[in-house]
Amino acid sequence: MQPFLRPSILLFLLLLSLIPTSLPQSSPAPQPLTTDDINITDLMSKNGCKSFADLLHSTADAADSFASNIGSGLTAFCPTDPVLKPFLPLFKNLTADQKISLLLYHAIPIYYSIQMLKSNNGVVNTLATDGTTKNYNFTIQNDGDVVTLQTKVTKANITGTLFDKDPVALYAIDEVLEPTEIFKPAEVPVPAPAPQVVADSPKPAGKKQSNGSPEAQSPGDKAADQKAGDNNRAAAAGNLAGVAAVAAFFAFAFV
Ligand SMILES: *[C@@H]1O[C@H](CO)[C@@H](O)[C@H](O)[C@H]1NC(C)=O
Ligand SMILES: *[C@@H]1O[C@H](CO)[C@@H](O)[C@H](O)[C@H]1NC(C)=O
Ligand SMILES: *[C@@H]1O[C@H](CO)[C@@H](O)[C@H](O)[C@H]1NC(C)=O
Ligand SMILES: *[C@@H]1O[C@H](CO)[C@@H](O)[C@H](O)[C@H]1NC(C)=O
Repeated sequence: MQPFLRPSILLFLLLLSLIPTSLPQSSPAPQPLTTDDINITDLMSKNGCKSFADLLHSTADAADSFASNIGSGLTAFCPTDPVLKPFLPLFKNLTADQKISLLLYHAIPIYYSIQMLKSNNGVVNTLATDGTTKNYNFTIQNDGDVVTLQTKVTKANITGTLFDKDPVALYAIDEVLEPTEIFKPAEVPVPAPAPQVVADSPKPAGKKQSNGSPEAQSPGDKAADQKAGDNNRAAAAGNLAGVAAVAAFFAFAFV
């Protein structure tokens, strides 16, 4: 018994001294979300757009382009799995360049909160747009609370928000966006409402609003982050106390 006494008391004292000092030290301010933490394919995968995320992942150039726009602002629209799966045979038939363009067509190089989308109608450029020809654009059209993305070939409604924190927003849509550069309109009965009416794209307004406006970063999110941080801290403190208690028990058992 004797040889165990001193080390076990020392261990117990050491653990006791850890509890008060390590609690304040183990509670740094919650880390703000940095753009490095935003993994677009991961967010899509886990929120109903796994097929689209897989396409992005397997098309390195497109994935890189999405990722490199995160810092400066990005709004991406992903067709949900039930919508994208029937489209996959068509996708496979595209050329490599068309595949990249189609994926890039699903993102705008600007951050738009859902409020911005609901209050701006107009033509927007996408990551697939060639600056000189302004091709691969589509029209954002809203009707009440429904935001619709219209190409000359397809119309998609935004059906959900996967992620929305300036500078990145990810939305689910219920149709694949088919650019007229790749697909032919199926039928041409009613001419679409003239896009030139809204030729002033909402981009400048969106850009302005995204710079630190209260709308862009909701206080509710911050409160939630704070709360999560508090919970983590409480959990960490609980774990530490538990470890100390178990260790103390063994220290006394040896005595
Ligand atoms: C994003 O997450 C996926 C796993 O879901 C991983 O394979 C990929 O490398 C990540 N990408 C980045 C840029 O971290
Ligand atoms: C894909 O291309 C092949 C050969 O060009 C064609 O037979 C097939 O119908 C196409 N599939 C689709 C879904 O368009
Ligand atoms: C949209 O793209 C078409 C080509 O598909 C182009 O002719 C047109 O000028 C573009 N519109 C705008 C407003 O950029
Ligand atoms: C989009 O929403 C409108 C209005 O709610 C609806 O009439 C239309 O069917 C929807 N489109 C799709 C593709 O779900």
